[in-house]
Amino acid sequence: MTEQKATNVHWHEGEVTRADRAKLLGHSGATIWFTGLSGSGKSTIAVALEKVLYGHGKLVYRLDGDNVRLGINKNLGFSAEDRAENIRRIGEIAKLFVDTGVIVLSSFVSPYRADRDLVRKLHEDAGMSFVEVYVDVPLEEAEKRDPKGLYKKARAGQLKNFTGIDDPYEAPLKPELVLNTDRMSLEDEVAALLDLLTRRGVLPA
Ligand code: ADX
Repeated sequence: MTEQKATNVHWHEGEVTRADRAKLLGHSGATIWFTGLSGSGKSTIAVALEKVLYGHGKLVYRLDGDNVRLGINKNLGFSAEDRAENIRRIGEIAKLFVDTGVIVLSSFVSPYRADRDLVRKLHEDAGMSFVEVYVDVPLEEAEKRDPKGLYKKARAGQLKNFTGIDDPYEAPLKPELVLNTDRMSLEDEVAALLDLLTRRGVLPA
């Protein structure tokens, strides 16, 4: 848990509430958190779901590992500490978006259970929906896909601390949904997500 450094700081309430913003938008926010190995299909699924949700009139926004690491988290690498800080910041950003009423689709390897659980707690303590989706493929399949050629580099010893090769991945124990992307079509994955979001009250029944 990151310690609070600044003292004498207090939350300042406004006069426009989360509920007011939800009324304006016609829906509340939520975070859909995709976790899984590099190459498992997290970003592909998020892109497809984003399009469908937008088509349903939802304000939806993707937070994606590579994109975020080119911007706000450009000063972070892949040590366990840096990954924890990466996920902590994303969690706080996602929470701000959810407070505005946005449906956040977040795709990060997020290999450590404790880091993901912290983001879940951040949301749940604030009364916000958080849905964890485990994008599950066998390592061999992710390695076969190797869309960015990173597994090849890691196997050749040119890339250290690569998740699944010489760095751990801790699978979720109780994710709200598991998508086995080596056995399901993208269409079926999106359908399963829409069904889950409806059951969770994120989308209307
Ligand atoms: S996380 O572990 O902190 O959640 P994040 O999702 O932001 O990782 O970034 C992972 C992406 O960075 C991967 O999809 C891959 O393209 C790239 N990457 C570069 N080096 C590594 C590494 N050592 N481990 C995992 N991914 C890496």
